[in-house]
Amino acid sequence: MLGRFISPGHYAELLGSGRQSGSRMLECDPGLLAGRYNRQPFPFTHRLAGNTDFALPRLFELCRRMDPRQIQYRIGEIPGDAHFDSTFERYREGLSLADALDRFEERRAYVVIYNPELDPEYQTVIEGVLAEIAAYTEPFDPVMTWYSTYIFLSTRDAVTPYHMDREMNFLFQVRGTKRVQLWDPADQDVMTDQQKDLLLSHVGERPTFKESFEAKAQTFDLQAGMGVHHPFIAPHRVYTGSEVSVTLAVTYRTHGSDIWTDAHKFNAKLRGIGWRPRPVGSNPTLDRWKSATMGLTRRARSVLWSAPPEPT
Ligand SMILES: [Fe+2]
Repeated sequence: MLGRFISPGHYAELLGSGRQSGSRMLECDPGLLAGRYNRQPFPFTHRLAGNTDFALPRLFELCRRMDPRQIQYRIGEIPGDAHFDSTFERYREGLSLADALDRFEERRAYVVIYNPELDPEYQTVIEGVLAEIAAYTEPFDPVMTWYSTYIFLSTRDAVTPYHMDREMNFLFQVRGTKRVQLWDPADQDVMTDQQKDLLLSHVGERPTFKESFEAKAQTFDLQAGMGVHHPFIAPHRVYTGSEVSVTLAVTYRTHGSDIWTDAHKFNAKLRGIGWRPRPVGSNPTLDRWKSATMGLTRRARSVLWSAPPEPT
């Protein structure tokens, strides 16, 4: 699995350093945070644009020294309704990683660095940003349990097709411009309860885009120094502007999102035997009970069959 679990001790350290951070990198509007966090997207500002760790030559060096399995690349300009999960294989067109880095703009490349925090030179800055997110979000959504980050390097007009991820995100625009469109994950037209149960259970394809969604998009035009928060499983689509773009995504899970994830998995199992379960989010006590039951099932399975527990 990508990313890294966060132990209680690690979370306490993150909170401590995020609260004390003298050189604050992230600025969230308190009203937007309190009113919209994890329900609706909201913009924020940051100071990563001037950080030399995110200059293109340093990021190319990082790509060259990281495990090649941590780097994905393709040509940038693809249809906005392309199938998200297969874009890297489908739109590579003979491009090699060396080509993509050496002739980045000429080849109109799009490169994703998975988990730059694994690199010792990047771990400090990435965990510094994560610590500030932890400090901001703790009053509303305490205890981070997992995180994973990505750096997106894209040439002009690159597209990230419509899709949704199984966690929350703070997306930082570091260089260039991006148009980020997000959809309300609670909108039943956009994703039904059944689709969400299956998405979190990794069953079948992710829900796809329909033309009728277009008018419902919330659009954020990001410049360097701006960012946007993605609520849990909020569908999104991203267009790069007319110049080279660098973007950092800090994705994470919390106790709260782990409960939702388990409750969706529980519901998917009930659907498998023909039941119509109460939607996740409609009864928090019931969601916690479903999550506890899934946890017991995982522990029982690992004891009885000595199998590794199912990932949460
Ligand atoms: Fe995404």
